[in-house]
Amino acid sequence: MRIVDLIEKKKNGETLSQEEIHYIIEEYTKGTLADYQMSALLMAICFVGLNDEETAILTDAMMHSGDVIDLSSIHGIKVDKHSTGGVGDKTSLVLGPMVAACGVPVAKMSGRGLGHTGGTLDKLESIPNIDVYLTEEAFINQVNNIGLAIIGQSAQLVPADKKMYALRDVTATVPSIPLIASSIMSKKLAAGSDAILLDVKYGDGAFMKTKADAKKLAETMITIGKSLNRDTRATLSNMNQPLGNAIGNSLEVKEAIETLNGHGPQDLLELCLEAGSHMLVQAKRTNSLDKARKMLEQTITDQTAIKKLEDMVNAQGGDSSYITNPSKFHLPKQIVKVKSRKTGYIKDLHAHTLGIVSMKLGGGREKTEDKIDYSVGIILHKKIGDYVEEGEHLLEVHTNTGLNEELLNEILASYEIVEEKVKKPLIIDEVIF
Ligand code: URA
Repeated sequence: MRIVDLIEKKKNGETLSQEEIHYIIEEYTKGTLADYQMSALLMAICFVGLNDEETAILTDAMMHSGDVIDLSSIHGIKVDKHSTGGVGDKTSLVLGPMVAACGVPVAKMSGRGLGHTGGTLDKLESIPNIDVYLTEEAFINQVNNIGLAIIGQSAQLVPADKKMYALRDVTATVPSIPLIASSIMSKKLAAGSDAILLDVKYGDGAFMKTKADAKKLAETMITIGKSLNRDTRATLSNMNQPLGNAIGNSLEVKEAIETLNGHGPQDLLELCLEAGSHMLVQAKRTNSLDKARKMLEQTITDQTAIKKLEDMVNAQGGDSSYITNPSKFHLPKQIVKVKSRKTGYIKDLHAHTLGIVSMKLGGGREKTEDKIDYSVGIILHKKIGDYVEEGEHLLEVHTNTGLNEELLNEILASYEIVEEKVKKPLIIDEVIF
């Protein structure tokens, strides 16, 4: 087989066979297929696309390019959750403990943030001493002992995606639905779960800017999951404004703790209750979404969910006194309150801009090797639909490097304020399965 013929074939809109797709992924993982040829093929896929069968074959080939985790020694049905990424998205830190407190094992592999989006591992690492790199054996033991572990993906998991993603990032080939779907699903499937709940975000702060694209991505991933016999469902959720009020690592952990203690923001709680209800049904803990929601609510009332988070932090060597006493989290040098220059209703709140501001403050990485400042970020006081008077606080900026004019202007420009009343947006539009 000659790779140049396969590039030509895809460029001309033809369908690649199972044998051809496996050949491409195997050769690329081994390093015998050059980056420039892979780039050309990825660009052809961006323009021409892949059909459902090609996408499922690509996912399967990528999944088997490295280790496939065997979670069969964990008792019960394992349901994994994956978010397509956004700003202020601390869902896993709330949902994981709630679902685990209902008796469903949660064995979760998470990622780091890049650019304007945050990552669960970075957030967790704001808790002193926590270890997010466990061996497979320790990971499985922890889930069997306490029902919950959140760790980083091992280097041997889907090496094809690691190389392809890095290449896509620098060749403008990230935004392709079959490529995103196979990238996400190959990692979820290799991580060994029996069922998958996807939180597919759309809007300004998400990869998918429109609801229609998010729906297409969700449907593509569900088709892949089903073709490989995994119960796969997806929430379509709104990322036109940040989720919850906190953006930034330790600020988001504190908000997750507040939510598990029953004092969190409504949108975050609602997303966790809806996604969690489906996860409990997928795990066959109950067959009723209403009963599942009540079980999840109970884990907050009776404090079993916050106790799960504390147990997990302890088991992973972290200082769990930060969970019981969040005021221990290191504060930044300065907290700057930003006042509104207008009176009216918030119509728009650009999540992407605020994610970038948080990154520039040191809360995220521009390059993979950048170090994170866990204490910085933003707390929103006003969100879409809220009324604000001129001079009232819109948000506060937690910073160790001050707040220069440029950042202040970016923040002010992220709020669109109008005279007419604005309805608060729903957090979830649809659940697809
Ligand atoms: N997240 C992934 O893991 N892969 C993509 O391609 C895009 C988002």
